[in-house]
Parts: sequence; C-alpha cells; structure tokens
Amino acid sequence: MKPVYAGFFLNMSKAPIGIFDSGIGGLTVANAILKLMPEERIIYFGDTAHMPYGDKSAHAIKSYSQAITHFLIGKGCKMVVVACNTASAVGYKEVKKICGKKIPALNVIDPVVSHLSDKRDTHKVGIIGTKRTVSTRAYTKRIVKEYPEMMTCELATPLLAPMIEEGFFNNKISQTIINSYLSRKTLEHIDTLILACTHYPLIQKEIENYYRDQVRIIDSAHAVAEKVEEELHQFGINNVSGEKPKHEFYLSDYTASFEETAKIFFPESIKLKELNLWA
Ligand code: DGL
Repeated sequence: MKPVYAGFFLNMSKAPIGIFDSGIGGLTVANAILKLMPEERIIYFGDTAHMPYGDKSAHAIKSYSQAITHFLIGKGCKMVVVACNTASAVGYKEVKKICGKKIPALNVIDPVVSHLSDKRDTHKVGIIGTKRTVSTRAYTKRIVKEYPEMMTCELATPLLAPMIEEGFFNNKISQTIINSYLSRKTLEHIDTLILACTHYPLIQKEIENYYRDQVRIIDSAHAVAEKVEEELHQFGINNVSGEKPKHEFYLSDYTASFEETAKIFFPESIKLKELNLWA
C-alpha cells in the first residue's frame, strides 16, 4: 500500500523553496542553494521596508518573520529558509510553528555551528553580526554546548549590513570601516571568524584582505545550502521534474540598490515585485 502522503510529496517536489531576509543578504544563501541544486525553484522575499532587522526589537522581528512565512506558505512553498541570522536568532521558533510538521523550516545558525565539527584546530571563534543577533548570543550558546573546548567572542558590527544593502562595498571607505571593526580588542587572537549575517559574504574579500589568510572565515551560505539539500532528500521533496525553474522575487519596498546588487548573483535581469505585506 502506498503511503498516505505519496501524492502530497510528489506535488511538493515541484513546489518552490521560500527564502527570506531583511534585504539583499539572503541572496547569498539563495545563490548557494541554486548552485548546489539548479533544478530547484525559489520564491525570495526581501523585507526592505524593515531593513535593518539588526536594530529592531525581538518582538518586531518575530512579527515580520511570521507575516513573511504565512506569505511564502500561501504561495505553496515546500520549505522555508530563514536566510537571515537576526530572524534566525529571534524568530525561528515562530516560523517553525507556522510551518508545522509537513513543511521543513531551516535557520542559518544551526548548519554553521554543525559545520564547526570538522574544524578540529579551532580554538577561538569570533562572531560578527547585527546588534540583535549578538545580543542573543545564539552562536555562543550553541557552540559552548556542542564544543565545550572552544572559546568564542562576539562583536556587533551594525554599520555593515546597511552599508552593503546600499551597494557600498569594495572601496576604500568600506575597507576602512571593516578594518576598524576587525581590529577591536574583542576579536583578538581568533583563528576562525563566523560571518553571522548573510549580508557579509558580499564583503568577504575585504575581510580576507584584513586577515591575510591568518584566520579561517566561515559564512552561512554554503553550510545552509548543504542542509537544504539534505532536508529535501530526507522529506523526499527534491525537484526531479527537469523543468527550467522560474524564480520569483518580492520586496516589501522597491530599492534600486537591491536591483543593482542582485545582478551579482542573477546577471540575467530579474523581475522584482513590490509587495508590502503590512499595507
Ligand atoms: N542579513 C541579516 C542577517 O543575517 C541582517 C541584516 C539586517 O540588519 O537587516 O542578520
């Protein structure tokens, strides 16, 4: 006898993966997912109207995350990826509750922490992220629990996400701001740095310029993409249709800088739809 959900899972495999962030950062995750699984279709929501999340209250971030999750599920998504560290740190429980048991929901923190298991020579991990992410100490709590031998230090770097969202990177001034954060005493003697904001892979080169190969840099995008692949297979909902995927991109407030930076990942011009879920 066929399992009850066979038809459900068959239809679900063709469904899109819902991905959201406050803005452009989640595209680093979307890009890694599509590189690994080019046959998958995504629906992306950038909550540019509320960017930066890092300065908002936990209550506000939870309610944004809930509204976006309802929207993505309403669009028929088979999985929801919270492609934002800030929303992962404070709103993931709410997202998971809405998704229930049938729709897997992923955050960006757990896959990165699991990824540390192959880094035996890691002693001191630096974590840079938004004020809200750092205030929760979400990374430190998980790392201390899984790897009691590791030390951590966290630094809020609130200027970085808005700077990147504006398309302001790979120039002298952005390098100076980055250097100024990375030279803080808090991050002294680290051997590993976690980019705990999905915007930061866009400044990875500048971070590497500062460390000159002395520090291992870990971003969420690749670890999360691998986790997405694993979960899709586990649920039997990976797309095997062979059809060319048609992605959709929504912004709660249109910004020209989002469109410009999106071209780094999607050079074929993408159609951005403006949709304010709170109007
Ligand atoms: N990209 C988001 C993150 O990973 C946050 C940026 C923001 O402050 O909105 O935390």
